[in-house]
Amino acid sequence: MKLQLKTPQLYIETYGCQMNIADSEIVAGILLTQGYTLSSDVEHADLILINTCSVRDNAEQRVWNRLDFFKGLKRRHRGIMVGVIGCMAERIGDDLAKHEAVDIVAGPDSYRDIPMLLDKAKTEGKGINIELSEVETYSGITPERIQHDQISGFVNIMRGCNNFCTYCIVPYTRGRERSCDPKEVISEVKSFIALNYREITLLGQNVNSYKWIDGDTQTTFPQLVEMVAQVDPTVRIRFTTSHPKDISDALIEVIAKYPNVCKHIHLPVQSGSNSVLERMNRKYTREYYLERVNKIRELIPNCGLSTDIFCGFPGETEADFQDSLRLMEEVGYDLAFMFKYSERPGTYAAKHLSDDIDEKTKTERLMKIINLQNGISKKRNQTDIGKTYEVLVEGFSKKSENDLVGRTQQNKVVVFPNKGFAVGELVNVKIISSSSATLLGEAINDKN
Ligand code: 5AD
Ligand code: SF4
Repeated sequence: MKLQLKTPQLYIETYGCQMNIADSEIVAGILLTQGYTLSSDVEHADLILINTCSVRDNAEQRVWNRLDFFKGLKRRHRGIMVGVIGCMAERIGDDLAKHEAVDIVAGPDSYRDIPMLLDKAKTEGKGINIELSEVETYSGITPERIQHDQISGFVNIMRGCNNFCTYCIVPYTRGRERSCDPKEVISEVKSFIALNYREITLLGQNVNSYKWIDGDTQTTFPQLVEMVAQVDPTVRIRFTTSHPKDISDALIEVIAKYPNVCKHIHLPVQSGSNSVLERMNRKYTREYYLERVNKIRELIPNCGLSTDIFCGFPGETEADFQDSLRLMEEVGYDLAFMFKYSERPGTYAAKHLSDDIDEKTKTERLMKIINLQNGISKKRNQTDIGKTYEVLVEGFSKKSENDLVGRTQQNKVVVFPNKGFAVGELVNVKIISSSSATLLGEAINDKN
């Protein structure tokens, strides 16, 4: 009888943004070359990695709770190793390393070092590397897709951030901005397509400042989007995040020009008050932002718009807050991610601006923002009734296998009766009713 040696099982849990999902795939790629196999079963993993987010305090609290759970797991199953990676590892590496469950800690630029850190943890004691780099883009590493059954994938096109918004921890956890070689971006896009992915999202903290210089030639973000869009015209292209200060006419024109570049822009406004925007160091005014929105609507009349917005920034008066509400109404976002300010140690705001809006006011303001946006989303969705949208089928609806669910280019969720379409197919769907979160429709493609 042949002796079958079990390969060590790797389980990765990912929190935070889409960039973390892409990073987890890079880490999986690195560890697969070391003989690990990916597993979705935390109970039987040999190595558990938790890829973390520091953007708000509650994101970090969740990680501490998970670490306590892993501590119990390690007591029950001897020999499991646990690593904390990502933004929280970078921010508070030493404190994390003190937790009983933790064997290794690796920041966003230290992933190539994980095998070495694991060796160290097995022999000498906990392994920690939270050194940031000005050049690391994980060039040459083949990411391993964590969920092969998906149709939508993420490609990092740049790392880090140079903007230093005063509330934000990211420039400290992810270091300075650097772009990836467009040849590698294209080859990663092609590898996704070879795995039957039908939608690719290009990722960066501020994709509009993407820049690659090779001798005399320079590739800008609008040029990169064109190159990616031309790889396969049947594959949808998305990107995130665009900083409003840098969203150029050239980019808006490229979105308008290519049918497979999704007609959707995520344009985080953060606040509608000029004095708050200035204290946030956002480098644009409310008027400039609204002018950009007008330009988008002029060149791409059917463009979906979403945003990030938060209340309770230091010194936010009732009048500032009302400016945010008015701006939300003026723009009429299809979708918004809405938050309360959370002071992050080490940022400019934490050092120089007092966190002076009490929790009760923050919560009340957030509720007002959420209620307003629900009403706006509902109205925006009503205007879709009677229109036909291209929908990329993602799977069965949560409620019934008789219905399929997918997204429009504008990133709206559509549910429609299943007439035998497959996951990954593009279907034209006529919208017949809507709520604040979903559109309901009827496929109009011929399916015989
Ligand atoms: N407090 C609350 N929200 C924040 N964000 C970033 N930093 C903070 C903070 N300190 C929000 C912003 C950003 C999104 C990813 O998270 O809206 O766009
Ligand atoms: Fe969280 Fe920001 Fe880090 Fe993404 S980059 S994981 S949102 S802190």
